[in-house]
Amino acid sequence: MGTVGGGTVNVLTRNAEEIARRAGRGIVVTHAAARDINKPRICDTTNITLTTTPQDVVNDPDVQIVIELIGGDTLARELVMAAIANGKHVVTANKALIAKHGNEIFAAAQKQGVVVAFEAAVAGGIPIIKALREGLAGNRVEWLAGIINGTGNFILTEMRDNGSDFGDVLAEAQRLGYAEADPTFDVEGIDAAHKLTILASIAFGIPLQFEACYTEGITKITREDIVYAEELGYRIKHLGVARRTDAGVELRVHPTLIPERRLIANVDGVMNAVLVKGDAVGPTLYYGAGAGADPTASAVVADVVDVVRTLTSDPENRVPHLAFQADSLSDLPILPMAAVETAYYVRLQCEDKPGVLANVASILGNSEISIEAILQKEPVGNAPATIILLTHRVNEGKMNQAISTIEGLEAVIGDVMRIRLEHLDAD
Ligand code: HSE
Repeated sequence: MGTVGGGTVNVLTRNAEEIARRAGRGIVVTHAAARDINKPRICDTTNITLTTTPQDVVNDPDVQIVIELIGGDTLARELVMAAIANGKHVVTANKALIAKHGNEIFAAAQKQGVVVAFEAAVAGGIPIIKALREGLAGNRVEWLAGIINGTGNFILTEMRDNGSDFGDVLAEAQRLGYAEADPTFDVEGIDAAHKLTILASIAFGIPLQFEACYTEGITKITREDIVYAEELGYRIKHLGVARRTDAGVELRVHPTLIPERRLIANVDGVMNAVLVKGDAVGPTLYYGAGAGADPTASAVVADVVDVVRTLTSDPENRVPHLAFQADSLSDLPILPMAAVETAYYVRLQCEDKPGVLANVASILGNSEISIEAILQKEPVGNAPATIILLTHRVNEGKMNQAISTIEGLEAVIGDVMRIRLEHLDAD
């Protein structure tokens, strides 16, 4: 009964008539659990039996659908498994739970013939699970890329537009209820990795493999990188990227330069967007609020309506949890980052003297890394010179080697900053 729980009660109450027309019967919240039942809430709880013991809700024989909005993956996991064992359908917004324990949860649900629905776990109110699982069912999904953490996008947008301080913007995101209980999940990319893990599974029909997801957050991004990227015609966004290749699946979350003319590069603030490339449909883009009480409740309630509609249908004929039939999941491996191919933005600081740029260029040339653009900033006073390079696509292992050779040059000062770059064109 926190932010999303309150929002869900409000949406179910406000739109009760419209929802009943869609679902074919009324949907009523009868029981709810909260840590503190006397706390002021954003919703009216007059007709709800409140308890501090969530097991009471999960074990109540009158409850048909359990909505889990607790978060975390300990108590939430216990309650969801208990609800399934009791033959109840489950709706959850819990991305950590699904990304880490989804394989176990779906196997149990399948055995019990119940549904576990999780639309609200990814990208808040955007119906991206529905789109991937059903709307794009005729396609071979080739890749997807998403801005799937609202807090991170809000911080990067504010840094770019207002030169705001990282900490101030994070505090504002927490105040507005966008950030996770532990905001390191947002800024270190863990929240986005949970969501990307789920998206990749339903896009490619592979088991959930959260541990294999490469995860890098936004904490090292500086305002100067944002400004240089803009000068070169790019925006820095925190992206989750999943791509199917012949060798395996790329599954990675990291800051990424995107050409500023792409629609997704203009998704700002707390908004989310997911770009999906299907072989038949081509690129498609899904945009909307990725967090907040009502937008997330919109996805929760849609799942409840879906469950209600399937109450009378044969379990064998329901949409499979991971989009593909449980016995038809593929064992395509997740690729190590060294095998991933992207273009790069590289920023280095060096002494302003003859031959430095030539040395850097020859290291890249010897590694067969092709330079796409170059920018050198005039040093101010005795400050070091700054060189910014954009490369063509290159294997990450090769790029790592070239960067460590460049860092070994006497004239190069400190670490080289590198940010991956994706063109996200129709290919
Ligand atoms: N902390 C998440 C975000 C909330 O900022 O996107 C929605 O999952």
